[in-house]
Amino acid sequence: MSPRMTVLLVIFLHSYVALASDPDAVQDFCIPSSNLSSSVHCKNSSLVTVEDFAFSGIKNAGKFGKAKFTSMAVTSRVFPGLNTLGMAFVRADFDVGGVNVPHFHPRATETAFVLEGKLYSGFVDSENRVFAKVIQKGEVMVFPKGLVHFQMNVGKSHATILGSFNSQNPGAVKIPLAVFGSEIKEELLEKAFGLSSKDISRMRKRFGAKGSR
Ligand SMILES: *[C@@H]1O[C@H](CO)[C@@H](O)[C@H](O)[C@H]1NC(C)=O
Ligand SMILES: *[C@@H]1O[C@H](CO)[C@@H](O)[C@H](O)[C@H]1NC(C)=O
Repeated sequence: MSPRMTVLLVIFLHSYVALASDPDAVQDFCIPSSNLSSSVHCKNSSLVTVEDFAFSGIKNAGKFGKAKFTSMAVTSRVFPGLNTLGMAFVRADFDVGGVNVPHFHPRATETAFVLEGKLYSGFVDSENRVFAKVIQKGEVMVFPKGLVHFQMNVGKSHATILGSFNSQNPGAVKIPLAVFGSEIKEELLEKAFGLSSKDISRMRKRFGAKGSR
C-alpha cells in the first residue's frame, strides 16, 4: 500500500471510530454541576470526591414485572460519575422462565455477562437472521448497536446478567411497547400485523401504559 493510501486509511478509520461512540471527553471527568445558575456544566473539581465515582444502586435485584424480569439501567442520569465517559451498564434479573422482551439500544453496542444462570440469548440482524444460543454463568454475548436482541431464562433458577454499553446514554426501545404501548393509529397496526381490532385492543391493554414492563 502506498504511504498516501495508508494516510487516507488511517484518517478514514479514525473518523469512523470517532463516529462510532460518544464524543471524546476533553477533561479527566465532568460530574454534572447541580448549580443551575452556573454556566459551567461540570462541578468544580475541588468539590469532587470519591463518592462521585462509586455507585451502590444495583446490589440487589429490583421487583419482578409481568415478564418475570427486572432491570436497572445505570446511565449518567442515575450515576453522574459516568458523564462524558462514554459508557453505561445495566443489571438485569430473570425469575425462572423470565423474558427480556425484544428491544434495541439506538446508541450503543452491549456486552452481556452472565453472573448467574442460563439464558437463551440472541439478536436479529438487519436481514432478519437470528444469532441465538444458550449462554451460562461466566459467558458473554455481544449485541451490536441498534440490533434487536432478547433473553429468556431457560435454567431452573434465578438468572442475573451485567450488561455494559459504549455510551453513557444508550437508550432502550422495547419492541412490544414501541408498537402496542404507543399511540400509533389502530388501523395502521391492524393492517401492518394482520390483526383484528379485538386483538389490537388486547395487545394495547397488555402494553398500554407507556414505560411499563
Ligand atoms: C452557582 O454558580 C454561580 C455562578 O457561577 C455562583 O455565583 C454561585 O455562588 C454558585 N452557587 C453555588 C451554591 O455553588
Ligand atoms: C474551584 O474551586 C477552587 C477552590 O474553592 C477555586 O480556587 C477555583 O477558582 C475554582 N475554580 C473555578 C473554575 O471556579
